[in-house]
Amino acid sequence: MIKTTIKHERLLQHKTECLILFCAEEKKLSGKIAELDSRLKGLIKSAFKNKRFEGKLNQTLLLNVKGPLRADHLLLAGLGKSEEITADKLRQAAGTAARRAENTNFKTITFYIPTDESAKNFYAGVLESSDDPTKAVTEGSLLSLYHFDQYKEDNGKNKPSRVRQIILLPASKEQVPPMRLAIGRGRKLAEAVCASRDLISHPSNTVTPSYLADTAREYAKTFGMTCKVLGTRDMKKLGMGALLGVSQGSQEPPAFIILEYNGGSKNDPPVVIVGKGITFDTGGISLKPPASMHEMKKDMSGGAVTLGALRAAAALKIPLNVVGLVPASENMPSGTAIKPGDILKSMSGKTIEVLNTDAEGRLILADALTYAARYKPRALIDLATLTGAVIMALGHEAAAVLGNDDELVHRLQQCGDITGERLWPLPLWPEHEKAMKSDLADLKNIASPGVGAGTITGAAFLKAFAGDRPWCHLDIAGTSWSGEDNPYAPKGSSGFGVRLLVRFLEQEAENNG
Ligand code: BES
Ligand code: ZN
Ligand code: ZN
Repeated sequence: MIKTTIKHERLLQHKTECLILFCAEEKKLSGKIAELDSRLKGLIKSAFKNKRFEGKLNQTLLLNVKGPLRADHLLLAGLGKSEEITADKLRQAAGTAARRAENTNFKTITFYIPTDESAKNFYAGVLESSDDPTKAVTEGSLLSLYHFDQYKEDNGKNKPSRVRQIILLPASKEQVPPMRLAIGRGRKLAEAVCASRDLISHPSNTVTPSYLADTAREYAKTFGMTCKVLGTRDMKKLGMGALLGVSQGSQEPPAFIILEYNGGSKNDPPVVIVGKGITFDTGGISLKPPASMHEMKKDMSGGAVTLGALRAAAALKIPLNVVGLVPASENMPSGTAIKPGDILKSMSGKTIEVLNTDAEGRLILADALTYAARYKPRALIDLATLTGAVIMALGHEAAAVLGNDDELVHRLQQCGDITGERLWPLPLWPEHEKAMKSDLADLKNIASPGVGAGTITGAAFLKAFAGDRPWCHLDIAGTSWSGEDNPYAPKGSSGFGVRLLVRFLEQEAENNG
């Protein structure tokens, strides 16, 4: 990964290829930046005056400054109105600037981050959400410079246009120790997000259920967690008929991954996170149309994000117990596959009439949610690319959140607002639960045609297995992959959910302690 270094040097003396300065919309320059601008004979001021740069969010202006400064280039990065600056805007501005710098072939870039007394007003919004400007800049820049090119011949290594080093420049010596901590935290988070992005981007002939299990084992070893993986035999013993039903059409053995991070005290109930781990969803016998079937390698995003959140929680040493459960399987059509109309017996004892084999996510989650109950979780959160319908409802701007506990819904939504992973609540009413009752079995896995509300009925099905602990379901089908570049999420897998979950875990640990 890209190197991040702190250099305690004077702004005017600092030698770098590209010096990035954050600017708000108000033209007022103060402190060190005013000093720098006067050295540049008012270059920044005149950029504002001529409207070549207005400080708008995600606006950038590259200036060649070699001569008066020791930096070769200056890159102005807009933050929008100063009284509206938030941690996420800072992440975006840093991400946009880092990518602009990379596209200009810079290898070393420097962010100037004044977080001393004089800058308190500037970062008021960031500090209010108890986030840290340095952490936001670290996260934003590392996340925006993510590339997935392992399948290219040159591995991306010989391409000239890659940033190799990010330097963070504090305004004073006193800032160095807190800044070092903040960079470390930002890095650990970004690394976990990028690892999840990798898992999602790999094709399904690399990322199989066994590969996910190996990844979980590796995280456990590296970050100090325990990992247990249940195979087909264990699943049979536990009566996980729903998960086994989905996997029975595939040549790849399924895996039920249990990753435990014990950062809290011994008997403290954990937060349990459950992630859908369908490593490829063909639809099964209810086969999907071919046009975009290849996209269904991302159907394990919930699982990847669960592993990423556990990895980050352990790396950050959050004082809380956390359990990650990933039911992992392929969904394939074959002579051994389940067929529409088949009835499966889930681990909970409830029977399920499978009317559409493409509604497989809820089947594997049913058994995972039942398994989760044995932890008596303080909160149970599942993440799944569950329905195409969520894209109809919310597009790619937000994931849907539904659950049996309004306070948990609200808290998760707040966490997402801060991390820039927006959630939007949908209702879950008794009528929706009724729509999932089957004539022949306890439940059916899809509602009758005409009921509509696909995302809600999917969640209503899950609710029957979530037990009585506070539970929320995040439908991330629209947010786990992006068709275009975003400020700090390049086109492709986003890792949506990792930072939100970590934020929630940190909050939970704080409330607990
Ligand atoms: N994995 C899909 C959902 C999905 C769709 C994820 C688009 C990402 C992008 C899921 O297993 C599925 O096929 N759901 C069906 C449910 C239906 C049969 C009730 C759907 O959304 O069409
Ligand atoms: Zn499906
Ligand atoms: Zn699916």
